[in-house]
Amino acid sequence: MPTRDIRSLFFSKKEHSNTTFGFQNFSSSGPRELRTNPALLIQPSFVMYQIEPDIRRATTLPGAFYNSPEGFASYREQIFARSWQMVTHAEELVKLPFDAMPFQFMDKFIEEPLLLLRDADNTLRCMSNVCTHRGKILVEHPGKLERGIVCGYHGRRFLLNGNFAAMPETEGMENFPCADDNLTQIPVRQWRQFVFTSLAPAFPFEDWVADMERKIGFMPVEHFRFDAARSRDYLVKANWALYCDNYLEGFHIPFVHKGLATSLDWGAYRTELFNWSNVQVGISKGGEDVFDLPAGHEDYGQVIAGYYFWLFPNIMFNFYPWGLSLNIVRPLQLDLTKVSFRAYVWDASKLGRGAGADVDLVEREDEAVVEQVQIGTRSRFYRHGRFSPKQERGVHHFHQLVTRLIS
Ligand code: FES
Ligand SMILES: [Fe+2]
Repeated sequence: MPTRDIRSLFFSKKEHSNTTFGFQNFSSSGPRELRTNPALLIQPSFVMYQIEPDIRRATTLPGAFYNSPEGFASYREQIFARSWQMVTHAEELVKLPFDAMPFQFMDKFIEEPLLLLRDADNTLRCMSNVCTHRGKILVEHPGKLERGIVCGYHGRRFLLNGNFAAMPETEGMENFPCADDNLTQIPVRQWRQFVFTSLAPAFPFEDWVADMERKIGFMPVEHFRFDAARSRDYLVKANWALYCDNYLEGFHIPFVHKGLATSLDWGAYRTELFNWSNVQVGISKGGEDVFDLPAGHEDYGQVIAGYYFWLFPNIMFNFYPWGLSLNIVRPLQLDLTKVSFRAYVWDASKLGRGAGADVDLVEREDEAVVEQVQIGTRSRFYRHGRFSPKQERGVHHFHQLVTRLIS
């Protein structure tokens, strides 16, 4: 369905006319009246233009963003379908020419059947995994495709570049084959060992990863060793964006993460904003367990315990002196989110120390607070919040990017 149609389901003209900057305008009746009149106690509908760019005046996304089915449909189509998503473990399964791996773009959220493969020239390709005849899934299991792609229903064949090749019993067909008979090609990009695809990218991949590469390019990330024992999935009973909101500020560290607060210098904690990503830079309190930054690095001389990169909208690359903790946040339902932690070890002797000592405990502390926020944002008394200009620049950045894609 075209995105415009989806939006028209819930963005009515009347609602637009009642809004000023971003959200519903209560100036005519006044927010105080609404708060004191039980008959009118209801959250404002989810209507968006933009978040105020000046953080000193800006208000956060409204509670309805995290709680309305319309919001869920909106960010599924307007944000996630147009974002870059990681195809996990693709490097292992699609390593040699003719290797192929079927997958869904985002499991249980955007179930678009796709096929990742290496062609005879070793080029990585991604395409629709749906037969252009009557719609059967083409490749059902990972494996080799030395005979090309062959549909198991009526024998339609495709080349590894997705072009139609042949089909039995086509005598008498007119205007056949045509472009519609080829498999739609999907953009595929690689950063180090990680492979990403996008159904319809709203921003260039290179722009998305450039600042992370500039900052941590000195690390041999492609040689980090995946550690299954340190990797696990968490189910969080909250909206995906609340999880990201929480991730994007260190404001809560002294209140929520007492252990982490002993190793990070909260006063020196900072956020740097980029086009489609940002990074929180954790400065070590004691100057120990820090990166050995090369001379000439833009942060050379600083005692950095962790680089927390967030790539819009839902991927976090947390670098520590021991390696990388990768977090992928996947919406399942309006108030249910799967967060996958994947550990890649660089220097095992530094595990268990510093800011990245116990990412599991920090995660569970975050979950507890985020689940409480989910309940709170459902309240008819909660409308929206405000940003601390010093502490919540990352959250403000996120909310601006959200509204930029949804508006
Ligand atoms: S559905 Fe694939 S050949 Fe018929
Ligand atoms: Fe946290």
